[in-house]
Amino acid sequence: MNHHLVVSQQSFTDPSTTSPSPSVIPPSIIPPSPTIHLKNVSSWNVDTLKKLHLTLFPVHYSDSFYEQVQNVGEFAKVAYLDSIPVGAICCRIEPELQQEGKYRVYIMTLGVLEPYRRRRLGHLMLQHIVDQAQLQPTITRIYLHVQVLNTTALSFYHCHGFQKVALARDYYKNIHDKDAYVVVKNITHGAPSSSSSSSNTDY
Ligand SMILES: CC(C)(COP(=O)(O)OP(=O)(O)OC[C@H]1O[C@@H](n2cnc3c(N)ncnc32)[C@H](O)[C@@H]1OP(=O)(O)O)[C@@H](O)C(=O)NCCC(=O)NCCS
Repeated sequence: MNHHLVVSQQSFTDPSTTSPSPSVIPPSIIPPSPTIHLKNVSSWNVDTLKKLHLTLFPVHYSDSFYEQVQNVGEFAKVAYLDSIPVGAICCRIEPELQQEGKYRVYIMTLGVLEPYRRRRLGHLMLQHIVDQAQLQPTITRIYLHVQVLNTTALSFYHCHGFQKVALARDYYKNIHDKDAYVVVKNITHGAPSSSSSSSNTDY
């Protein structure tokens, strides 16, 4: 797919606020060279993010989750193809428990609506987070939990340099498949990012 990427904080009229679900917009209406916008989450599009999450994930996210992602700037984004919301990535920043003054990025959610997958949208959102992490000298790594049976996501993260470092049994409480892998990508500053796993195991 040919496209242009625009990363910005500005808002524009959000058509999904008047439609019942972002997933009802068919991919057939996408123009041949759409522009991809990665927009910060704020009051104008937080309802769009909620609809995307309802469509994408079997987990309910709390009001405090949606408050939190409006305060992390570049670390939470809604992806739009032109003006159509098609995916989102939401992270939080956590202190490194064993390294004072250092931080890590935890990816809470990343998803692309099913009709829009395999068009590099997931890649663009993840790469944006990696780029942001590399800009911040205090950030050491990016990590997340991935359901053991989610082979698509495991392949996706593997091809982006993430490595499995732990198995978290019964990590998910309210869904059937409860086990998760912890996958990690170390962040290096001033050099190409490393794909090696971290020796730090406090997840
Ligand atoms: C995981 C997910 C975000 C990937 O998004 P995407 O936009 O389809 O991914 P991309 O097009 O950027 O794929 C990049 C690369 O990842 C790998 N990949 C992506 N989907 C894959 C699949 N179904 N099987 C194998 N490899 C896959 C491929 O190497 C792909 O490159 P290629 O298309 O050139 O072969 C998407 O499948 C999704 O939303 N899944 C449901 C939600 C989820 O499980 N999120 C992850 C846990 S938070």
